[in-house]
Amino acid sequence: MNILVTGGAGYIGSHTVVELLRAGHDVVVADNLSNASEEALKRALTLVREERPDVKEIPFHLVDLRDRAGLEKLFAAHDAFDCCIHFAGRKAVGESVRKPWEYYENNVGGTLTLLDVMRRHGCKNLIFSSSATVYGDPSTVPITEECPKGRCTNPYGWTKWMLEQILTDLHAADEANGDPKPWNVVLLRYFNPIGAHPSGLIGEDPDGIPNNLMPYITQVAVGKLDHLNVFGGDYDTPDGTGVRDYIHVVDLARGHVKALAAVERGCGLAVYNLGTGRGCSVLEVVHAFEEATGVRIPYEIAPRRPGDVAACWSSPEKAERELGWKAEYGIAEMCRDAWNWQSRNPNGYKA
Ligand code: NAD
Ligand code: UD1
Repeated sequence: MNILVTGGAGYIGSHTVVELLRAGHDVVVADNLSNASEEALKRALTLVREERPDVKEIPFHLVDLRDRAGLEKLFAAHDAFDCCIHFAGRKAVGESVRKPWEYYENNVGGTLTLLDVMRRHGCKNLIFSSSATVYGDPSTVPITEECPKGRCTNPYGWTKWMLEQILTDLHAADEANGDPKPWNVVLLRYFNPIGAHPSGLIGEDPDGIPNNLMPYITQVAVGKLDHLNVFGGDYDTPDGTGVRDYIHVVDLARGHVKALAAVERGCGLAVYNLGTGRGCSVLEVVHAFEEATGVRIPYEIAPRRPGDVAACWSSPEKAERELGWKAEYGIAEMCRDAWNWQSRNPNGYKA
């Protein structure tokens, strides 16, 4: 299939570009590089060419999704796209609380422009990056797709929930109107993506001090930060620290390849959790990292972080049943690959 990947230079996008090309698809990337580097795509190409020497380039458009004319130009420059995998968006929870307008304008505004240009060019197939954040503070774990949603605690989360609603409505309207070419939409709710490509060539490259656990740990390990603050040691969890469903980014990327097959089958509207189904506490991650890498991570128990939940992990059964997708990597490989990336690239993609 001929796929447009928005945000394809970013963390999950670049790993997905590699898996799409490995699976034989054609890919065009659109990104404004607000949180990414073109170097990620150069390295993705190097990786892909080991298996697919026929791939000469990864076509890249430096374009902002809010720039309608820029998007029109992109669509005009390529053969019709069969599907768009839409990663582009801002993703920092704390920043979204400080700058809500910027988040709604970029994430919701950018997506609306993209959807309009897509339908005008006859492409009504979309795979959307949603998040476990739409479940808010879950009343039960593991979380299935049917659990209560829309109880977001920050503007970032609301953008995900609003976009899920918008996409659901587009699909429903086509159904109701008997549209001969209705929207096919796959909403993928990611749990906690971590790790990097096992080659160590591509990985997560956060700007400044990381907010998320694994990049913080790897920066402590590489000596850029001196210790980890464990946010909360008194949760109602086996060791008192927060429990999450960490998933290897390569497994997550492969979930998108499976979702494409569903789009090709004309899935209509489909929603899947992408997680491992296993919860891991902060201290378990710290110890798994130390074991996988031999590097000690000094830590201190600190106050809880506002907005955090005690425990959040998925039931990934629906994705396994309907997409034939299942996470293969465990926490040891996630830690190994995160460290491999960080130790080889202590400054990320910056020289
Ligand atoms: P990322 O920041 O690495 O990738 C997002 C990409 O989108 C970046 O390359 C950025 O430059 C680009 N971008 C942002 N706004 C744009 C715009 N207006 N026009 C064009 N490009 C734009 O983030 P990621 O971790 O790869 O996340 C990808 C998607 O998955 C995001 O939508 C994110 O919200 C979602 N998600 C991520 C996580 C996670 O933990 N990383 C969890 C759940 C959901
Ligand atoms: C966060 C976001 C979530 C988003 C996801 C991916 C919040 C409240 N939630 O999820 O919406 O989809 O990132 O971008 O920000 N921790 C520490 N010390 C640290 C960092 C984290 O102890 O320095 C703990 C946290 O308290 C949590 C766990 O590690 O228990 C995971 O945190 P993090 O990696 O930030 O992910 P989430 O909070 O689950």
